[in-house]
Amino acid sequence: MRELEIPKHVAVIMDGNGRWAVRCGLERTAGHKAGEKVLMKWVRAGVHLGISEMSFYTFSTENWTRSPSEVRFLMNISKQIMRARAPEFLELGVRVKWVGRKTRLWKSVLSELEKIQNLTKNCTKMTVNFCINYGGRAEILDAVTKLVEDARAGRFSGSKVTQKQFEKCMYSSSMRPVDLLIRTSGEQRISNFLLWQIAYAEMIFLDDAWPDTDEQTLQRCVNDYNLRTRRFGAM
Ligand code: FPP
Repeated sequence: MRELEIPKHVAVIMDGNGRWAVRCGLERTAGHKAGEKVLMKWVRAGVHLGISEMSFYTFSTENWTRSPSEVRFLMNISKQIMRARAPEFLELGVRVKWVGRKTRLWKSVLSELEKIQNLTKNCTKMTVNFCINYGGRAEILDAVTKLVEDARAGRFSGSKVTQKQFEKCMYSSSMRPVDLLIRTSGEQRISNFLLWQIAYAEMIFLDDAWPDTDEQTLQRCVNDYNLRTRRFGAM
């Protein structure tokens, strides 16, 4: 039997927290709480499977349009998670990185993110990117802006920008291309997530709401990924 190929970078759109909570007769925020526990299950499963990098879409640049109380809840839960889960990330050997735009993001959230990034910077088992205040278009625009600034300041010359130079200006210059993108809860769209990095990603759309998934769900997705033939534009 062929050995299972493990995708190096798995990106996850954890959709359906709100609908799950409403279905259970709970507040939408209870869905995010349940979602956080599931996120940790996926992180543990990712380490166990030998995935090198996982990216989670936790708050998009468009999520600011949600009700002020839900935005507040999501900002606060982000802080709590970074604080409470730090020992577990360390123990698992997981390096935590924040990927996103600074503008508008709560200073207290940024400060917790800086702390956990610092604490886990030498962890090598897996990298977990928390995409908070993240938008794919914003990331591309911010990279272009940085390139223009670099050119104006004389730090960049030449008439053509290479892929490598462009990627260096992105939020996480070391992020690998996404091999597998998973979205839960029945929606089949990208919603502005990692637009540049998913160019050749395999995609899996699941009907289950995020809180209804677990370690086995990730294992099944990896099995499914192994049934795909990736050609990257070749024959
Ligand atoms: C999408 O479900 C989920 C989110 C916008 C937030 C996800 C956040 C967590 C799982 C908490 C963990 C946070 C961190 C920082 C680790 P939805 O609310 O759009 O669900 P719906 O489509 O059913 O309304």
